[in-house]
Amino acid sequence: MSMEELVRQLADKKARLELGGGEKALAKRKEQGKLTARERLALLFDPGTFTETDLFVKHRGTELGMQSKETPAEGVVTGFGKVEGRTVYAFSQDFTVMGGSLGEMHAQKIVKLQKMALKAGAPIICIQDSGGARINEHVDSLNGYGEIFFNNTIASGVIPQISVIMGPCAGGAVYSPGLTDFIFMVDKVSYMYITGPEVIKAVTREETTHEALGGAMAHAMKSGVAHFAAPSEHDCMLQIKKLLSYLPANNVDDAPAFPTADPLERAEERLLQIIPENANKPYDVRDIITSVVDDADFFEVQAYWAQNMVVGFGRLGGRPIGIIANQAKVMAGCIDIHASDKASRFIRFCDAFNIPVVTFVDTPGYLPGVNQEHGGIIRHGAKLLYAYCEATVPKLVVIMRKAYGGAYLAMCAQSLGADFVMAWPTAEIAVMGADGAANILFKPGADVADPAAAKAQWVAEYKEKFNTPFMAAARGFVEAVIDPRETRRYLGAALGGMETKRETRPAKKHGNFPV
Ligand code: HXC
Repeated sequence: MSMEELVRQLADKKARLELGGGEKALAKRKEQGKLTARERLALLFDPGTFTETDLFVKHRGTELGMQSKETPAEGVVTGFGKVEGRTVYAFSQDFTVMGGSLGEMHAQKIVKLQKMALKAGAPIICIQDSGGARINEHVDSLNGYGEIFFNNTIASGVIPQISVIMGPCAGGAVYSPGLTDFIFMVDKVSYMYITGPEVIKAVTREETTHEALGGAMAHAMKSGVAHFAAPSEHDCMLQIKKLLSYLPANNVDDAPAFPTADPLERAEERLLQIIPENANKPYDVRDIITSVVDDADFFEVQAYWAQNMVVGFGRLGGRPIGIIANQAKVMAGCIDIHASDKASRFIRFCDAFNIPVVTFVDTPGYLPGVNQEHGGIIRHGAKLLYAYCEATVPKLVVIMRKAYGGAYLAMCAQSLGADFVMAWPTAEIAVMGADGAANILFKPGADVADPAAAKAQWVAEYKEKFNTPFMAAARGFVEAVIDPRETRRYLGAALGGMETKRETRPAKKHGNFPV
């Protein structure tokens, strides 16, 4: 056969395989308003840069009807290319081929891609659209999931791993995402659960729907499983590109710098006004963050969950930073179980990928309550302490107002290894607030004519003496008490000062992170 004829046959073969479950199945997806596995990759990658791997892989199943089944591309498109000019690996499950279910060779394609991404030191994007373990391939499917989980774990902290849920994801299909760094979901398109509504009804008699149980907003607001919820698949891909722009390719690479016209010396008048004088009036800490970062550009992570703690990415002088901030307008910025989980995981991500962390503090403390205590606030709250202590990236802190007791420490006090702590003149750094202290310490003598007035005076004196930044500054626990307008300049300078930071720790297998 001539070369021309062979090449023509190859093109036909490829075209057939690229059709996945066939024209009818693809048309059905269009009707449902869903993109195909290949269209998703086309949206993600720079045009013409995607190189597919293992298109010709076939299943090896011999039971439950597999002998006669064709599974084009084994139900998953794998490959690599450029996203905004940077190398990224990705796979995209094809629901039109046996519901995107994961058989032995489907898993092997993913496992190989994970290993390639790890070798290359490049991020991997995992587009999930799957009915879970392919029932027809029994234990081979389970073994495949096990290998994927193993590689997820080995790659954790080495390359960024991003999961994109773009269909129903049940059973094993949810645990690989659960092991990755970030999960994106799409409203009315994505569902995640280990068992769906029917199984739940049979076992617990609870009635629920796919959307209420495992939809994008359920996981973005209630479980905290999803880090991002997008209104559409297109929007989701844009958000992924934005996230990637803050991340290095791997743990020994530098995150890309984006030159900015926003001068680091910019003084920001707004910072004098955002925190109201009346401590009972709420404000949005995101206004402070956007006043400080380059071009007011803040990319929030887990924006709908544990809103009393705000985390996300921004840039200072073009360099990415991770931001952690108490949100005074939600639960007065108290730190509870979910807030601790949210912040500590984010800090650990930033530390693993050498992204400096900047912490904005205004919190009355850990949240009191029986539910919190019995829910394990001690071990959850300990995560925050652990994550800050463990992190060796530059750690900068801005104490804006309340920094009391354990929460002062938990928001990265100097003793937890902060490299530069600055405080505004409004900072209140103390073991507790004046009223709380008075309730414990103030004991009017029998000769005091007006105990209430005496207590008020005690409170006023305590406030003036202790609820300020100066007691901490006098001991060197705060490096600088600053004019709030100068926050950006100070942060920029401190970041520059710590650019070459090196901190070594005793060698160990790994620590025992409290979970
Ligand atoms: C084999 C599967 C499959 C699976 C779907 N299909 N899931 N084939 N193994 N796990 C097939 C269907 O038979 C159907 O084939 C096609 O994919 C499309 O599925 P539908 O059911 O028609 O689609 P839809 O109505 O949209 O429902 C999607 C779904 C549902 C919600 C995902 O298919 C479903 O519940 N699947 C099973 C989920 C599950 O229990 N998986 C096993 C989990 S156990 P045809 O030929 O009709 O087109 C697991 C263990 C791992 O994953 C644990 C690791 C920790």
